[in-house]
Amino acid sequence: MRISIGSDHAGTALKDEVKMVLMERDNLEVKDVGTFGNEPVDYPDIAEKVANEVASGRSQFGILICGTGIGVSIAANKIHGIRCALCSDVFSAKMARKHNDANILALGARVIGFGLAGEIVRAWLDNEFEGVGRHQRRIDKLTEIESKN
Ligand code: RB5
Repeated sequence: MRISIGSDHAGTALKDEVKMVLMERDNLEVKDVGTFGNEPVDYPDIAEKVANEVASGRSQFGILICGTGIGVSIAANKIHGIRCALCSDVFSAKMARKHNDANILALGARVIGFGLAGEIVRAWLDNEFEGVGRHQRRIDKLTEIESKN
């Protein structure tokens, strides 16, 4: 499985930590789209890169990080086919996969610490979409909203 990861300047340290968590797994290929270093960049540019990787199918999942996680999640959700969930707790990360089939996880580097971020990423990876019945119907409705707008 391939995962794309990206952050703005506020998220580079957490991005490196999250990459270590991803490296715990042998079946993962990680594509880091940047940014690297502390030079300020605009979060929509990074979010668009990761979202395009996922929407095109080149990566199955994405992880986006900015200061709050809000900017990157708003930007990623502008791309058709993206369901980006901003999570600051383990329960939400689990439900974002099980009920919402979130294909991008957003994290706020100025909101949560490294330890919690790692647990959130593990919970998100370890859970699968319960893709039958009401949950699938609701995802289909999200796709319908995209096609109408
Ligand atoms: C950058 O200072 C900050 O605004 C950005 O990382 C993010 O929090 C935006 O939502």
